[in-house]
Amino acid sequence: MRSDQIRQGRLSGERSGDIEHFLASMEADRWIAEADLLVDMAHLLGLRRQGIIDEAPARALMAALLDLHDHGIPKEAFDEKFEDVHAGKEAYLIDRVGEDYGGRLHMGRSRNDEVATCIRIRLKQEIIALVRSLTELRRTLLDVAAAHIETVMPGFTHLQHAQPTTLAHYLLAYEQAFSRDTARLREAYARLDVSPLGSAAFASTGFPLDRAYTARLLGFSRPAPNSMDAVATRDFAIEVLSDAAICMTTASRLCEELVLWSTAFVGFVQLDDVYCSSSSIMPQKKNPDVAEIMRAKAGTVAGELAAAITITKGLPMSYNRDLQELTPHLWRGVEAARQSIPLLSGMIGSATFNAERMAAEAGRGFSTATDLADLLVREYGLPFRTAHRIVGRAVRYGSLDLATLDAAAREAAGISVVELGVTEEKITTVLDPRHAVALRSITGGPAPAAVAVQLSEQKDLLARDAAWVEETDAALSNAFRDLILESRRFAA
Ligand code: ARG
Repeated sequence: MRSDQIRQGRLSGERSGDIEHFLASMEADRWIAEADLLVDMAHLLGLRRQGIIDEAPARALMAALLDLHDHGIPKEAFDEKFEDVHAGKEAYLIDRVGEDYGGRLHMGRSRNDEVATCIRIRLKQEIIALVRSLTELRRTLLDVAAAHIETVMPGFTHLQHAQPTTLAHYLLAYEQAFSRDTARLREAYARLDVSPLGSAAFASTGFPLDRAYTARLLGFSRPAPNSMDAVATRDFAIEVLSDAAICMTTASRLCEELVLWSTAFVGFVQLDDVYCSSSSIMPQKKNPDVAEIMRAKAGTVAGELAAAITITKGLPMSYNRDLQELTPHLWRGVEAARQSIPLLSGMIGSATFNAERMAAEAGRGFSTATDLADLLVREYGLPFRTAHRIVGRAVRYGSLDLATLDAAAREAAGISVVELGVTEEKITTVLDPRHAVALRSITGGPAPAAVAVQLSEQKDLLARDAAWVEETDAALSNAFRDLILESRRFAA
């Protein structure tokens, strides 16, 4: 195949393989090569529709593009001497149909608007896939939660036993976070759903392109409103990387708990063997490796985000080649999230939670002491701070039985709880973790009725998000299918 057709006018000299490799984006371009063909087809149909290209070259070019679509882009087009797939593919087309025809596809176009359009197309597909896997994860969390509305467990603050809650309440907390990740990604999708095509290098073009037409062909909601912004911005990539990093941060916290919970000294969960590895020396070992790698992937994604922001900061308008260096970070970040979320879903769905162990721990560490203080407030009229001091003192003495509580009250507040009418029976009742959970029935709380409300609201939200995935996916796939059909009709 020919050499780099773009250098031949202005530049001379043979470049070393090192320089070619340094400049090339070929590896990352594999992510956008398919999208690039769609962009070519849309641009070509647009050129023809506006009468900018004649029928014969347009048909020859379209036939060649369809051939690439049907049989794949040949590896010569990914030769690093072309710097990127856009130039490599153009060289291939010129070879195929001759320069008189093949040299006409790039009218009114630059690689700047071309690559920005390709990245947005592929990113839309990636968002749809990521949101789909998030909806599956959320479904799993809701299903497991529904089975554990009554499973009492200890809740922690500072990783110390704090107050009793239920496994359902705990899982729903994570589901809330993942539903916000879903919302963030949907918003990012809506914002990035504009077509840069027709912006050319940055100042658009004197050719009378119909940008709304090519935007529609490519499944975008509309053309990007400003041609300079369209080629210069990568804020959409930073936004999606942020969303992925936030999502993975939450995933890493859940993974950390799975690691902790599956230890012998906690024993709240048993992970399915497929998510675990063993040791090359210690034959007894079952290690939670998937959860550990995922915990680390959150760091990887955060790193890709940091790289993307740092590459973009301080760049003057409009396109700068630096932007090429950002794109691989975008794909790596998105890929790490895309791999992780379905595995997390599988890991939760197949895990065995040990309700007995959780119940045994739920009341430990004086975890219902707040309820005893609340009792002194509610039924005996003490100020909360006084009740808090009395119960705290009793805990310091090591027991919450009536005698200890009374001694604590005398010393810490100069009163007798026995004289107030507190009984051993009352104390026993409020110290029961199940009682503590049942009392917390207000909005958002862990009581079974309150959790049932959360479950049903989140199921509705999930159904709406799942519908968005299917509708958006179908709309995009239909646009691409129609574009190919239109291209075939044109070439026939
Ligand atoms: N490979 C380039 C990128 O990813 C495509 C745009 C090249 N534009 C240019 N003026 N050299 O950004």
